[in-house]
Amino acid sequence: MNLVDDLQLALDDRERTRREFLAALGLAAVSMAGLGTSVTAVRFMWPEVLFEAPTRFRVGRPEDIPVGTLVVLPEQRVYLVRDSAGFVAMTAVCTHLGCLTRYEAENNVIFCPCHGSRFATDGAVVNGPAPRPLPRLALTLENGLLVVDTAVVVSRDTVLTV
Ligand code: FES
Repeated sequence: MNLVDDLQLALDDRERTRREFLAALGLAAVSMAGLGTSVTAVRFMWPEVLFEAPTRFRVGRPEDIPVGTLVVLPEQRVYLVRDSAGFVAMTAVCTHLGCLTRYEAENNVIFCPCHGSRFATDGAVVNGPAPRPLPRLALTLENGLLVVDTAVVVSRDTVLTV
């Protein structure tokens, strides 16, 4: 073999290697695209269900809650208050920017830790920046049990008398 033939062979080997590399790269890209498409297709088969807590729930028997009591229901983000007028359910979510308030038993106020709003136990704003009282929620008596519906907001003067 002469020098030109040797050079041509070396070039052919390099070409073949580059071709193989590009073929492997192309195969990898197609495989990745196929895998992505397959995953998307399989995910499409499963429904996008949002599991949320039910909006209606039982709190308990009215006779078990003495007058002058505020019951904190942290999971449902609800306060249940019994005063001399009756029962009131209200959201624990602050009307300013939606932080979760907490009841301070020692001061008998509902306090928002985010910006310092305070609410009376009937939900009225004691000091801002909260612009509105805590909304009252639907409260009914069903089969002797108090039932709150967090999906239904009622007027501020709604009180359940038992
Ligand atoms: S979110 Fe409650 S005071 Fe701002």
